[in-house]
Amino acid sequence: MKQATLHQLKVFEVVARHGSFTRAAEELFITQPTVSMQVKQLTKVVGLPLLEQVGKRLYLTDAGRELLATCREIFDRLAEFEMTVADFKGVKQGRLRLAAVSTTKYFVPRMLGPFCQLYPGIDVEFKVTNHERLLARLSENLDDLYILSQLPEHIDIRYHHFLENPLVVLAPVAHPLAQEKNIPLQRLASEPFIMREAGSGTRAEVQRLFDEHGMQVRVRLELGSNEAIKQAIAGGLGISVLSRHTLGLEGTSSELAILDVEGFPIRRNWYVIYPSGKQLTVVANTFFKYLLHEAKQFAASRQ
Ligand code: PGA
Repeated sequence: MKQATLHQLKVFEVVARHGSFTRAAEELFITQPTVSMQVKQLTKVVGLPLLEQVGKRLYLTDAGRELLATCREIFDRLAEFEMTVADFKGVKQGRLRLAAVSTTKYFVPRMLGPFCQLYPGIDVEFKVTNHERLLARLSENLDDLYILSQLPEHIDIRYHHFLENPLVVLAPVAHPLAQEKNIPLQRLASEPFIMREAGSGTRAEVQRLFDEHGMQVRVRLELGSNEAIKQAIAGGLGISVLSRHTLGLEGTSSELAILDVEGFPIRRNWYVIYPSGKQLTVVANTFFKYLLHEAKQFAASRQ
């Protein structure tokens, strides 16, 4: 492997990630024959096929999978080294890879803005996805830090609670229940309900509550986005349970009402987590501390 170059490993990592020479060439701004040539030379050095073509798609062989994991470790270590050196020089510089569940898009970008102003040398990669896909990223160790509400059970992690995440029942402002107090939970069973997609943490929590009370709701619509659900509620398609954060910083909306239903709000928390064995980079550590500090201010500003 000593004859392999870092460039070849980089090209291979991009090809493996996309499963395509063409898309790798696009990402790397080089020609497709150059990509194929680099992979061919690397394959020769390894002495075993790294990729196999089935139809139009490329798949990793066992050796390819091992090499991909090795490449990621090498590039992670190099990125860490760069950040440490920058820290020695007195500047915070490098890349923060942050992954978070969808509801966080209502407040994390607001916190990232001042962070990026404070540390102009830090680039941020912010992936927003649902709970299930976030856990898949966590188990592949693809990011520095993860933000979610429901702690994973089967992965050894370090976690820190930084903010509350109350789930509330939302209905259109003109809904008859909007004026009522202490609405019995069972009353929701007769309303058309809009549910998040399977794999969503919000949905899992809502389902848990209904199961606990032996209740079945009439799911009229399933949607994969909080924003789409809010529009559907405003459009009179039904009611739903979402994080209060989806109403934005003010926590209110002129089109939606928060219903006063017994058992609500469901009290949940936001956690920032990372795998137990992971050594946080200088940049990730800087953001971690920043987030805990900012969250306190954020919570105070909303009281
Ligand atoms: P979700 O996660 O975006 O997957 O619903 C949010 C949450 O767990 O609160």
